[in-house]
Amino acid sequence: MILVTGISGALGSLVHQGLSTLDGLTVAGGSRSGDDTTTRRIDFDDPATLPAGLRDVDVLVLISAGYAEDDVVLARHGAVIDAAAAAGVRHVIYTSLAGSGDLMTIALPHRWTEKRLAAAPFDVTILRNGLYAEVPVGLAVAGAVASAESGVFAAAFGTGRISVVAREDLAEVAVRVAAETERDLTAGRRSRHADKVYELEGVTAVGGADIAEILNESLGSPVRYVPVSLEDMRDMLQGIGLEPYQITHTLSLFANLGAGLLEASKSDLHDLLPRAPRDVRELITDAVRTVGYQSASVNAAR
Ligand SMILES: NC(=O)c1ccc[n+]([C@@H]2O[C@H](COP(=O)([O-])OP(=O)(O)OC[C@H]3O[C@@H](n4cnc5c(N)ncnc54)[C@H](OP(=O)(O)O)[C@@H]3O)[C@@H](O)[C@H]2O)c1
Repeated sequence: MILVTGISGALGSLVHQGLSTLDGLTVAGGSRSGDDTTTRRIDFDDPATLPAGLRDVDVLVLISAGYAEDDVVLARHGAVIDAAAAAGVRHVIYTSLAGSGDLMTIALPHRWTEKRLAAAPFDVTILRNGLYAEVPVGLAVAGAVASAESGVFAAAFGTGRISVVAREDLAEVAVRVAAETERDLTAGRRSRHADKVYELEGVTAVGGADIAEILNESLGSPVRYVPVSLEDMRDMLQGIGLEPYQITHTLSLFANLGAGLLEASKSDLHDLLPRAPRDVRELITDAVRTVGYQSASVNAAR
């Protein structure tokens, strides 16, 4: 049986739905909000849910549970790895972070988890996911608000560009790897994906000028990109509802962007998808529009 954790999340739900459409597989889903009827209750913060949640699981698709301080994420991932070992899970597929993000602060819990998995008694596949298409737009939200008011998109992209990927492509790869792993195990052999680390970097890179151009088209008024310093970016990120750790991670992303580290030169996506990776420009445009319209309605409400 395959079990996907975190199926109320955007990535987990896509992976779970994708696997559930395939013939000949038994697929279960876990979530913090599961009630143990259709969805198993699996909460990494509550290790007591894990032994029953992982019962009879051969292949575990472990969706990373970020969005917390590092010590909390480490405790979460440590708990589920220990529980998977105790439950006799045979193969774990973990959604990690792409190699271009190695120097970002969010890499720490991912690399720690990869090491813990490597020392565990089951086989492992690491899916090093690239950054989602909407991430740079979402993080530059303060700049986008400024653009609606002043025709300026101000953000700390420097001259760097960031490679981004459609979540749907990442989910499709996870579905393929999990299904082939389960079929290999059922046929009495080790998964062809055992011990593999796949770099699922985006094949499209965007910079500040690209986002300004999309804003320009979406808002119907001239918008130009103005690079700002990290210090100014920090000020812009205060007071827009981010948790303190999110500001740390966001600034780290911009620092890496400005240093030119987030543009990937190669990706395993081509080898694992049955066709070319999705064109992410539409996803970026949608994200820009959402931010633009939000800012317009905020302004209207003032
Ligand atoms: N590649 C990127 O650009 C990028 C960007 C942001 C985040 N991420 C990482 O990728 C993961 C999936 O992304 P997403 O877009 O699907 O995020 P999302 O929609 O916000 O979903 C968050 C996920 O975290 C799970 N989770 C949170 N706390 C948990 C806990 N205590 N125990 C078990 N699961 C827990 C949720 O599961 P349930 O609510 O169903 O229990 C859900 O699957 C994120 O959690 C984060 O670690 C990647």
